[in-house]
Amino acid sequence: MSIIFNEQNKTFYLNGKGYSYVFRINDVGYPEQLHFGAPIPCEDVTFVRSFGGRSMVASPAGVDNGKLSYHHTLPEIAFYGSGDFREPTFLVQSERGDRLCDLEYIGYDVLEQKPDITGMPSLDGGQTLILHLKDKFGDMLVDLYYTVYEDVSVITRRIVYKNGGKAPVKLERAYSFTLGMHGTDYDIMTFPGNWMDERTPETRPLGHGVISADSKRASSSSTMNPAMAILPRGTTEQYGEAYGVCLVYSSSFVLKAEGASTGDSLIMGGINDFDFSWKLDGGESFETPEVVIAYSSDGIGGMSRAFHDAFREHIINKRYVKQPRPVLINNWEATYFNFDNDKLRAIVDSVQGTGIDTLVLDDGWFGRRSGDNDGLGDWYVNEQKLEGGLDAIIEHTHSKGMKFGLWFEPEMVNELSDLYIAHPDYAIGIPGRPKSYSRHQFCLDLTRKDVRDCIVEMINKVLREHKIDYVKWDYNRNVTDTFSVGTEPERQAEFAHRYALGLYDICERIINGNPDIFFEGCSSGGGRFDPAMMYYFPQIWTSDNSDAEARTKIQYGTSIIYPLSSMSCHVSAVPNHQNNRVTPMKTRADIAHLGATGYELDTTKFTDEDRETVKAQVEEFRAMQDIILEGDLYRIENPFEGNYFSEIVVTKDKTRAAFCVYRRNSQANEYTKRIRLAGLDKDKMYHIDKLGITVSGASLMNVGIAPNLKVADFISEMYLLTEVK
Ligand code: DGJ
Repeated sequence: MSIIFNEQNKTFYLNGKGYSYVFRINDVGYPEQLHFGAPIPCEDVTFVRSFGGRSMVASPAGVDNGKLSYHHTLPEIAFYGSGDFREPTFLVQSERGDRLCDLEYIGYDVLEQKPDITGMPSLDGGQTLILHLKDKFGDMLVDLYYTVYEDVSVITRRIVYKNGGKAPVKLERAYSFTLGMHGTDYDIMTFPGNWMDERTPETRPLGHGVISADSKRASSSSTMNPAMAILPRGTTEQYGEAYGVCLVYSSSFVLKAEGASTGDSLIMGGINDFDFSWKLDGGESFETPEVVIAYSSDGIGGMSRAFHDAFREHIINKRYVKQPRPVLINNWEATYFNFDNDKLRAIVDSVQGTGIDTLVLDDGWFGRRSGDNDGLGDWYVNEQKLEGGLDAIIEHTHSKGMKFGLWFEPEMVNELSDLYIAHPDYAIGIPGRPKSYSRHQFCLDLTRKDVRDCIVEMINKVLREHKIDYVKWDYNRNVTDTFSVGTEPERQAEFAHRYALGLYDICERIINGNPDIFFEGCSSGGGRFDPAMMYYFPQIWTSDNSDAEARTKIQYGTSIIYPLSSMSCHVSAVPNHQNNRVTPMKTRADIAHLGATGYELDTTKFTDEDRETVKAQVEEFRAMQDIILEGDLYRIENPFEGNYFSEIVVTKDKTRAAFCVYRRNSQANEYTKRIRLAGLDKDKMYHIDKLGITVSGASLMNVGIAPNLKVADFISEMYLLTEVK
């Protein structure tokens, strides 16, 4: 049994893979956390709380006892106004305007199967504890959900807030969780970034006060990812305990770490309470998105592997997550908007014999689209550009034994489109007030059902009428002018969350409605890279920056939370279109092969030699794709810290591994670089293909290897290790 309740000491023991999560119901009926970390036996650990009474302490309402205080307790949920002066998990305003809520435990349920969240993706899973709480002096009901996993080192949490009274109330904040942590000696890692520079890990010490990471964009965003690592000071990539939280959510979010005056810390977050409120009529409930909380005793690397396993096993579509991925040619950087059917046919012909098996026709095939200022919203083929329509190029692609993929940007509209001319109100904005442009386009109001129906109908029509195997779903701007003409004034601050619910609704109807089509996510690259999106999109275009050197950092940072199988990575042209850098073709392929690989350059310019090179690269990828997609990742050299980038991916049974090493700049007279591998079985013997040697895992991990890279800039090597019996 993973979830145990001891009636005597009123303690809940939640035991998952590699962790125990323990809390008790204390003397005033408050759930108080006792331990989250390495496994412990189900014994009484209530001795750990030794609050002895201090001055200036506020006791719970109606309890004149200086030894009790919410403020000095590690909370499972924190509330405002009853003596806890730290950040609350939620804030609710009653009809008369008060904002107090003093929760006490009223019971629990254990379910053998985790229930879904209405309208939002979440991890699947097993045993789930629901802890029921109620306002002692009012009608609010709050349920805390915990799901424990025996196969992956994560616990998931979420909260349901219910108005148990008759009069309406307003949630002014409704986070998904608060996690108490003993002590304040933590470093906090967040994942800020920018377009073309996504998920750059940033680590700061947690002092007193709050570190906050958020998005106000109605998307999970490239500027901040909805994940945070909490690292006891001294934890490294390989050693020490590491905790991580990641929201299964794609709209405006916040994550906070608070170092409190009590010498403890709180981690919390969920839907961003900036520009948020939610009206709950009597009897109504509000479900929050899920948070995945990882625990590792093997450093940051162990935390990453916990997240990777959790996402691969419990949220990414089982039909695709472990399947070989298409190795595609995408025409975007080859042609941008400048293509016709002859050019597309030539691209298809030029990759014959290379192993590339899918053409993805990117932006520009529809409506009046001739550049990025028109056509979005008109999802019917531009026959002037594509003579013979879509079917001509689809049939040609299929006749060559390849699959066909098509680009859409379903959530958007250009002013210059039939859709906008017919329905200007479908775009998000305030009537009579000019809207903010971004890439010349507006966002469609997904909070409205009629707008969603229109989008779904248009896109499903294309998917019904043509033989499409693959879709790239793009999203190239963020929401501004937040307002919906379909929503009453007092509910306008519900917009960002309603956008997420609308997005998940159209994803359900388009993606789950077309289960034989493989959907790739994209948001100007990795602008919406989160586990909820991964539920629909097994892989996401990681960044619009396709330069191999930049990608070592972007992919390294992304891998701290997300599995390699979720990252689309392409070999593109040089000089690179984003930063003009010239890197060798081999390096571009080695780095792209550390994910779901593909090509994005003008293959009609290939020489026979280029074709042979690509053929060998695709063969090499195919030989190790299962390792990359399903294996355990160990990061070895951090490109943010030195001249090298290196990682090894090892199969679960440790019989094979793919090891990549990359050096940024050449150095004259460089000392011998020795790299110690990781994650292997010390007792197994491994043959390394390109070195032609057979060595024990013990030596590879303790002595290491010297890669001897050519003396030039941006050089890499990829080695395949195979067990020899
Ligand atoms: C942004 C994407 O990230 C690119 O790959 C490409 O699809 C363009 N949009 C097309 O507009």
